[in-house]
Amino acid sequence: MNRTTPVIPQDEIQRQRDYCNDLRARNSQLDAPPMAYVDTYGCQQNEADSELLRGMLTEMGYEMTDTDRDADLIVINTCAIREHAEQRVLGNVGALVHGKRRNPNQIICLCGCMAQEEHIAEKLRVSYRHVDLVFGPQVLWKFPELLRRVYLRRGRVFETQRADGAIAEGLPVRRSGKVKAWVSIMYGCDNFCTYCIVPYVRGRERSREPERILEEIQALVEQGYKDITLLGQNVNSYGKDLGGGVDFPALLERAAAIPGEFLLRFMTSHPKDATPRLFDVMARCEKVAPVIHLPFQSGSTRVLRAMNRGYTREEYLDKVAALRERLPQVVLTSDVIVGFPGESTQEFEQTLSLVEQVRFDALFTFLFSPREGTPAAKLPDPMAKEEKSANFNRLVALQNQISLEKHQAYIGSVQRCLVDGLSQDPRNNLNARTPGGRLVHLQGDRELVGRFVDVAIEDCSTWALFGRPL
Ligand code: SAH
Ligand code: SF4
Ligand code: F3S
Repeated sequence: MNRTTPVIPQDEIQRQRDYCNDLRARNSQLDAPPMAYVDTYGCQQNEADSELLRGMLTEMGYEMTDTDRDADLIVINTCAIREHAEQRVLGNVGALVHGKRRNPNQIICLCGCMAQEEHIAEKLRVSYRHVDLVFGPQVLWKFPELLRRVYLRRGRVFETQRADGAIAEGLPVRRSGKVKAWVSIMYGCDNFCTYCIVPYVRGRERSREPERILEEIQALVEQGYKDITLLGQNVNSYGKDLGGGVDFPALLERAAAIPGEFLLRFMTSHPKDATPRLFDVMARCEKVAPVIHLPFQSGSTRVLRAMNRGYTREEYLDKVAALRERLPQVVLTSDVIVGFPGESTQEFEQTLSLVEQVRFDALFTFLFSPREGTPAAKLPDPMAKEEKSANFNRLVALQNQISLEKHQAYIGSVQRCLVDGLSQDPRNNLNARTPGGRLVHLQGDRELVGRFVDVAIEDCSTWALFGRPL
C-alpha cells in the first residue's frame, strides 16, 4: 500500500509502554493505588480518546474514580467547537485550584482540542498555573512519556505545537461500556468549513489500515459487544490516504461480513462525499444500522457556499432522495447552524423549509459561535443576537413537532431493540435503541441488558419511545 500519511513506529509505542511500566513501579510503592479521574467534553472522538487515556492510566497503575475530589490525577479532555463549551471547561478547570491547594501533590492535565489552540495554551500558561500538563490530541499516544516528564521534572509540561498528526496503533484501551463500543477509523479533517475549528486542532485527515480496524471489530464482537460505531470527522473520506483502493463503503461492507450478532453505525458523513454506493451498502448489509447522520448546516445555497460545504441545497435534497429510495425506513438525523455571519432572515427561512421538506428524525441545532482563527470569525455579522435566538427557537419548535410526529408513527409497531443500559427511572428501568438508534424506555429484567429483544411500542414523547418487551 502507498500510504501518504505517517504511522508511529511500533518501537515508539513500545517505549510508551515502558514508561507506563516505570510509572506503575513508582505507583506500586504507594500505600494505596493512586486514583485518576478523566473528564470528557465534546464529541464521540473525544469519548474514544478518553478510553485510550484510561487504558494508559490503568497500565500505569492508576485506579479510576468518577469525581475530581479524591483524585490524585485529573485529566480534562476538552472540546473547542463552540465558545460555550470552552467557557464551561475553563470554569471547571479554574475551580480545581481549591482541590490542588488541599492536595499539592495532585497532578492536573488538560488535553483535547482546546489544548491545540494557541490562545488557550497561552491562557493556561499564564493564568491557570495549577495545571501541570497540557497536550493536544495529535500527541495523545505520548501521554505516558509526558506524564513521566511532569513527575521527573516536578515542573509544568506543554506539548501543544501544531501537528498534522499520525496513526498510532496498539495503545491500551479501557472501554466504558460492555454493549456499545467506538472504533476510530480515521482522524483529522481536511474540509475546512469556514466556521469550524476542527481541522486546525485535529490535524490532517488520516486513515487506519483496514486490517487493523477489522481486527478490532472482530475482537469486540467476540467479547460480546453488540453496537459498534465507526468514528471519523468525515468517514466518507476514509482511505483516501491509503492508496489501496479501500474506501468507506468497501470497509463498511467488509465489517458487516464479520460473523456474529451486532450492529454497525458510523459518524459523521459529510453530504458532499456520501455516495449512492454507500447507500447501497447500507441497504444491502443487515448489520449496518438503518440510520445516518448527515449534517446539512443550512438550507440556503448562498450560505452553504460561504460555509465552504461543497454542496447546494438541491444537491443535499437529491442525496436524501437517493438514500430514501434505497432505504425508505432510514432514520435521518442532522446538524444545523443558525445565525452564520450574514445569514438573512430569508436565508434562515430556507433552513426552515428544508427541515419541513426532509422531516429529519432528530436535529442538533447550534447557534453560530465565532472561533478564533477561522475565516467565518472575520465576516461581518450584523444580525442582532435576539433575532438569531428567535430564529433558533422557531427552528427548535418546528423540529420538536416533527420529532413528535415521527415518534407517534412508531406506536403500535414492534421494533427489534438492543437493550443497552439501565435508566434512573424506576418505572422504566431499561434503556434500549431501535435499529435506527431511537431511544426506547421500557420495564424489564436487568438480564436483558446486552440483548436484542422485540419491543411493542406503546407510547412516545418528543425525545423517546416507550415500550414493552415481548
Ligand atoms: N465533522 C462533523 C461535525 C463535527 S462538529 C461534520 O462535519 O459533520 C459538530 C457540529 O457542530 C457541526 O456539524 C456543526 O453543526 C456544529 N459546529 C461546528 N462549528 C461550529 C461553530 N463555530 N458554531 C456553531 N456550530 C458549529
Ligand atoms: Fe468541521 Fe467541516 Fe470538518 Fe465537519 S467537515 S469537522 S464541520 S471542517
Ligand atoms: Fe470538540 Fe474536538 Fe470533537 S472540537 S467536537 S472534541 S473534534
